[in-house]
Amino acid sequence: MNSADVLSLCKRRGFIWPAYEIYGGIAGLYDYGPMGAAMKNNIVHVWRKAYTLGEGFVEIDADTIGPEIVFKASGHLDKFSDALVSCVKCKTPYRADHLLKEHHPNPASLSHGDMDDLIQKVGVVCMECGGEISKVEDFNLMFKTMIGPGAIGRTGYLRPETAQGMFYNFNSLHRHMREKLPFGVIQIGRGYRNEISPRQGVIRLREFNMMEAELFIDPKDKTWPRFDAIKQDQIRLVPNEPGDTELSVTLEEALKKGIIANEVLAYFVGFTQRFLVTVGVDPERLRFRQHLKTEMAHYAADCWDAEALLSFGWTEIVGIADRGCWDLSRHIEFSNVEMNGFRRYDEPVEVEKEVLKPKYGMLGPQFKAKSSAVGKALEAADPKLIEDGGITVQVDGAPMIIEAKYFDVARVKEKVSGEKFVPHVIEPSHGLDRIMYTCLEHAYTEKEDKEGKYLVMRLAPLSAPIKLGIFPLMGKDELAKPAMELDAEFRANEVATSYDDSGSIGRRYARMDEVGTPYCVTVDYQTLEDDTVTIRDRDSTAQVRVKRSILLKTVVDLLNGKRSFADLKG
Ligand code: GLY
Repeated sequence: MNSADVLSLCKRRGFIWPAYEIYGGIAGLYDYGPMGAAMKNNIVHVWRKAYTLGEGFVEIDADTIGPEIVFKASGHLDKFSDALVSCVKCKTPYRADHLLKEHHPNPASLSHGDMDDLIQKVGVVCMECGGEISKVEDFNLMFKTMIGPGAIGRTGYLRPETAQGMFYNFNSLHRHMREKLPFGVIQIGRGYRNEISPRQGVIRLREFNMMEAELFIDPKDKTWPRFDAIKQDQIRLVPNEPGDTELSVTLEEALKKGIIANEVLAYFVGFTQRFLVTVGVDPERLRFRQHLKTEMAHYAADCWDAEALLSFGWTEIVGIADRGCWDLSRHIEFSNVEMNGFRRYDEPVEVEKEVLKPKYGMLGPQFKAKSSAVGKALEAADPKLIEDGGITVQVDGAPMIIEAKYFDVARVKEKVSGEKFVPHVIEPSHGLDRIMYTCLEHAYTEKEDKEGKYLVMRLAPLSAPIKLGIFPLMGKDELAKPAMELDAEFRANEVATSYDDSGSIGRRYARMDEVGTPYCVTVDYQTLEDDTVTIRDRDSTAQVRVKRSILLKTVVDLLNGKRSFADLKG
């Protein structure tokens, strides 16, 4: 099996379609068909519930287009680039690190100069025409646009990550959370990256879906209250030193041995593993790899990627980054708006500090009606800003230079109850399309019986677009009515069904197997006699008869993992 097989099934059965196909398609743009859209919504539902109901995060929905200053502040304008090379003859563009994949264990970590040297040394040439490859240059991945028309228009960009909306809204979020830290925010939505040369199906998209969580914490408190609940989870790690050796440890051991730097990061590594396995990532094909210092994003102090083993090799599907105070500090610098948390001391402490004491007797004659405002501005001013024998203060919204003769500098003692700090951020960032594709590839199973080869998508029940196939054994007789009634009952209870009365039962099972439907119910002639139906399990193909009266609860329990099909038989 390779990715072309998986994508072929996805196309045929309505999971994923190349976008704009009637116009020849565009690399890096794909659409979700009915099965894909339903599956995507199911994965989003599991994720949203885990973060909001499970961890108490709140959700926002910010704009996808932003003014230039936001991305200047975030660093994306200056630093969010890939290394671009092109064929000097036919102009085909390539990512330099992709061209060097077979010649270096981690080409993305090389400097441009080193990439140029390696391209020369190993003699990489254009894959299209054999032409010479140009020198490496930076290519910014953001899509640029104009917000507003003509002369009054401002340069804007489509967001390359959803995260910034949670950073520039920090003060509103902090107030909403009653100014208590830690607090977490999630956002689910589209991101845009003008990838140089997307060639890996839905793995590298130019428009993609993200599920991002930003956890704002006090950097002096990197603990997490629910760590104990998952600390025994076994986890497969590839730390960035020494020697990139893969190991399998519990989260607790990873923390104790200093492999994962702090409890919050360790918690969200474990939390992410649980989520991925729940939606259908094969735990045997999942690991967490720490970024090398040289491959870390510009905003990250540390980062662990959840990587899935796919037909493309190990592929990042989630990044769990310690963004430190990078984002908030940069937005403070670029917006001149304070964004702080407040660390309350156990007891108020007395501190000595310098303040300005205005000489009110001299202010009146000099500043007349403004003297009171000047006095207040001096009292509020920071003595550190005194320069050249004076200080600039804002009076009635305008700057005024006040000479030093109008104030004294005094030392005073005062009680303070705490201190301000810029919160740090831990970010689990999920590539939803990559997670979707991983679930699809890991579910893809080729089987063979006496009639030949057939395909089964062993999707996790929570992700499967259709949960239950409902079939009358015969289509147009007295079995159709009770089968339709069952179908209506399941739908009314939010179980997505597919009612099918055409073709043999075998063909109907096969149709459901190919879209990953975990269970099918058949209404047959025995149903009319004893009010039982059969439930058929996709993975074992075993069938069991169940009383109609307990069918709904039984199926819902199977779908939620509260019961297994094997238990049912017993
Ligand atoms: N926010 C994480 C990323 O852009 O990949």
